[in-house]
Amino acid sequence: MKQDLLTFTNWTPEAANELLALAVEMKANMEQYGDVLKGKSIVALFEKPSLRTRLSFEIGIHKLGGHLVYVDSEAGKLNGREGAADVAANIACWADGLIARVFSHNTLETFASAADVPVINALCDKYHPCQALADYLTLFEQFGKVKGLTLAYIGDGNNVTHSLLILGALLGCHQVVITPNGHEVDQAIFDAAQSIADQTGCNMVQSNDISAAKGASVLYTDTWLSMGDSTPLSEIKDAFTPYQINHELLKNTGATHAMHCQPAHRDLEITSAIIDSDASLLMQQAENRMYAQNAILKTLFA
Ligand code: CP
Ligand code: NVA
Repeated sequence: MKQDLLTFTNWTPEAANELLALAVEMKANMEQYGDVLKGKSIVALFEKPSLRTRLSFEIGIHKLGGHLVYVDSEAGKLNGREGAADVAANIACWADGLIARVFSHNTLETFASAADVPVINALCDKYHPCQALADYLTLFEQFGKVKGLTLAYIGDGNNVTHSLLILGALLGCHQVVITPNGHEVDQAIFDAAQSIADQTGCNMVQSNDISAAKGASVLYTDTWLSMGDSTPLSEIKDAFTPYQINHELLKNTGATHAMHCQPAHRDLEITSAIIDSDASLLMQQAENRMYAQNAILKTLFA
């Protein structure tokens, strides 16, 4: 039976740890994996813009011996000429896999049931699993472990936060999520992560209070306004400004490093001074997108 990756929610801790270990191994020995996708064609259908996800998949798939065909949102307009299920079923007639960045998680579920090839979530409204794996690979490289670390996410509760929570709980990483009032994560997703954390023995904390980040190993943030959110920045800026990641916050919490999935808005959610400092893991996260995704591709196409 084909396997998709829409979210890590249904994964076991063992499978998540194996995937992370595979990403570490494939990064160390890339030259041994040049035939993993030999002869395979994978379609990437994106409804939203991308720099990192699109290019890291395209270059990674090339390095694994396969090739990627990119369909942009105009050419691939889903509910214009035909419905999402028909688009996916047609793509599966020629392609060996489908990578999709979409507005709604429901579209991914439609793709996954209509296409008899693996479907990979390249970001939707609810999750960004490929980003989360790259981020935990980065933490593993930085700290030599993931289990027992504390990641404090500070900012808007969004798709990136959700995937960090789920995969972090599977890998045994303690989680603190700090958001402005009214911008919390999806409670059902937090609860799902909490029940995984109960099995793996890590702590989960939700707060509106920035001081809850004290003692964290690393601080993570993301854009205050995700793609597709048309709220004017002026409406939310005052509420979010106290949650900015800056040198003072790093010092007060005792965290040694800062993370951001990018694109970053300098001097809004994170200061330029942090992005350009030795505390920044941003470029390591970006670099690891490709290695994380190569491990996902190898796992799904095994
Ligand atoms: N972090 C991330 O997914 O970047 P892109 O939107 O550029 O793909
Ligand atoms: N939360 C952001 C992530 C971008 C990679 C968004 O959805 O726009």
